[in-house]
Amino acid sequence: MKKANTIPAVRPVIPVSDRLGDTKEYYFSTKLREIAALRAAGKDILNLGIGSPDLPPAPEVVAALTESARSEDAHGYQPYVGRPELRTAFSSWYARYFGVTLDPDTELLPLMGSKEGIMHISMAFLNPGDEVLVPNPGYPTYRSATELAGGVVRSYDLSAASDWLPDLEVLESAGLDRVKIMWINYPHMPTGATAPPDFFPRLVDFARRNGILLVNDNPYAFILTDSVQSLLSVPGAREVALELSSLSKAQNMAGWRVGVLAGAEEYLQTVLRFKSNMDSGMFLPVQRAAAVALGLGEDWYTKLNETYRRRQQVAFRIMDTLGCTYDRQQVGLFVWAKCAGSTDGYGTCDRALYDHDVFLTPGGIFGSAGEQYVRISLCSTEAELLQALDRLAVSAASDDSQPESRHSW
Ligand SMILES: Cc1ncc(COP(=O)(O)O)c(C=O)c1O
Repeated sequence: MKKANTIPAVRPVIPVSDRLGDTKEYYFSTKLREIAALRAAGKDILNLGIGSPDLPPAPEVVAALTESARSEDAHGYQPYVGRPELRTAFSSWYARYFGVTLDPDTELLPLMGSKEGIMHISMAFLNPGDEVLVPNPGYPTYRSATELAGGVVRSYDLSAASDWLPDLEVLESAGLDRVKIMWINYPHMPTGATAPPDFFPRLVDFARRNGILLVNDNPYAFILTDSVQSLLSVPGAREVALELSSLSKAQNMAGWRVGVLAGAEEYLQTVLRFKSNMDSGMFLPVQRAAAVALGLGEDWYTKLNETYRRRQQVAFRIMDTLGCTYDRQQVGLFVWAKCAGSTDGYGTCDRALYDHDVFLTPGGIFGSAGEQYVRISLCSTEAELLQALDRLAVSAASDDSQPESRHSW
């Protein structure tokens, strides 16, 4: 019999950089591989994990992309600072929805998603040993970008008791001499908390007094919120503040990779010194179509939120089934809830995945303050969410014929 052609595994002899340090592959990068393997083995896994909108962009956005892609002159390198029509569209969008005036020539730098902006800002401003205030719980990329850039993470704890807002007095009393950057993210992922009206002015004042670059990562601005807020609307903010926005979530364009960095020209020029050495501009049809998406009217966001509101209600029921507690006022693309008693989120998510074929995100991946929590993404249809509810409810019901399959959440 002929032997199968097997390629021997390579034993790497080249050492990795010190810079990579303890940085691990991104959680969802490994977890989605595991889910693909489970599916390949015949498991019908419902993925309620990642915040990648399942709904399509507006039809006119897709039409603009395809129309532009047909033109012969659409395929070359594009300006490092984005096309003027995209920067103008971002400027009009900021004026219309956030009430903030930004010069399209100097105060807006289009990005390939806000995630790359987090890395660019870290690389552009951090020296080895500089400290960075990172929310716990919070988006894991703030931590990894800081570490990759040689900075030192100083995580600041957020809790339900303080509405997931940092205690600025505690931070100040601990000393901030070495702190160079503070990451904030309101509406906050994963907790769905919003910043009250007086909070951004307080933060700007805090950053000015302590010489800290304050960056608001704002991809969830429109989702399930009544008020759309920008940190840059605070008078004097531009001296110390930057803001990242994205078309990934509210325009259903996560795979397109379009975002923007907004702020003072001097800061953006610094970021450009790094960024222009990393990429060579965004595909022109993507930029043209993104400009169309930025021109969508309020009805687009209203309709989107009607869908998310219905899904949120089902996600709340799933959390009830799991015995978790949550704030019904939370906003954004997820539902965040606390497990009962001392139950830990990892255990709950493992049981949901391995016993019920439902993938939920354990809150601990967002930091130690999230360990008792679970996150459900609203990026699945209502029918899928209801199916997940059915599957998870089975374990809560008593079934004497199969005691081994029974557990309380
Ligand atoms: C808080 C936060 N910031 C940034 C991002 C990245 O968004 P983008 O697709 O614009 O890179 C995400 C994505 O999930 C996020 O949750």
